[in-house]
Amino acid sequence: MRRIRKWWRKGWAAAQGLSEAECADDPFVQFERWFAEAQRCGLDYPEAMTLATATPAGQPAARMVLCKGFDRQGFRFFTNYDSRKGQELAANARVALLFYWEPYERQVRIEGSVERLTAEESYAYFCSRPRGSRLGAWASAQSAPLGSRAELEATVKVYAEKFKGQDIPLPPFWGGYRCIPESFEFWQGRLDRLHDRLCFTQTGTGWQRIRRAP
Ligand SMILES: Cc1cc2nc3c(=O)[nH]c(=O)nc-3n(C[C@H](O)[C@H](O)[C@H](O)COP(=O)(O)O)c2cc1C
Repeated sequence: MRRIRKWWRKGWAAAQGLSEAECADDPFVQFERWFAEAQRCGLDYPEAMTLATATPAGQPAARMVLCKGFDRQGFRFFTNYDSRKGQELAANARVALLFYWEPYERQVRIEGSVERLTAEESYAYFCSRPRGSRLGAWASAQSAPLGSRAELEATVKVYAEKFKGQDIPLPPFWGGYRCIPESFEFWQGRLDRLHDRLCFTQTGTGWQRIRRAP
């Protein structure tokens, strides 16, 4: 049944395609439409996205993060500022984001740059996380070499004891970023590899849209 639903969705999206008439003139509106459909189709993490960074020397790196909200200001995600990605973003704020929603055969590429969220914004999100995740944020020096799993678990216990019976503060090395998009690409898989690709680039006054060959 699940498989039939999936095939139906794929077939429907591929047959419909993404025409210029159907696509919104504003990429944020188009993203909202596709994201809402992805949320409805039963994916565990429709908000999962690949975040690509690059060192100033041009070495790229990519990893998954969760998009914890988006609006016209950009796409927000949270992490450890001292992690590998955090260090790379401090040296080079240029990024690419990638969403892939397999049940609809849809991909969205976003390019732009990041800025840090304020400590207030980060704290608001931090407080919404389960206590265990908040302790984990304190205990994990994300991306640093770690001797053993036991070491990590012992560090969690140290922080659990330290913050026992009180609110867990925001770690000074943890928080959010906002990716401010400069370009979007909406890719709709279609039959015979004749996919639709509608691409938006920011101009001084709005967004310019073109179609690219698949
Ligand atoms: C589905 C998924 C979602 C993830 N979400 C996050 C996230 O929101 N923030 C984060 O720091 N790491 C997240 N991770 C872990 C990262 O992919 C990565 O391992 C970690 O951030 C360290 O990356 P870095 O060493 O390049 O900084 C996620 C991993 C997966 C598979």
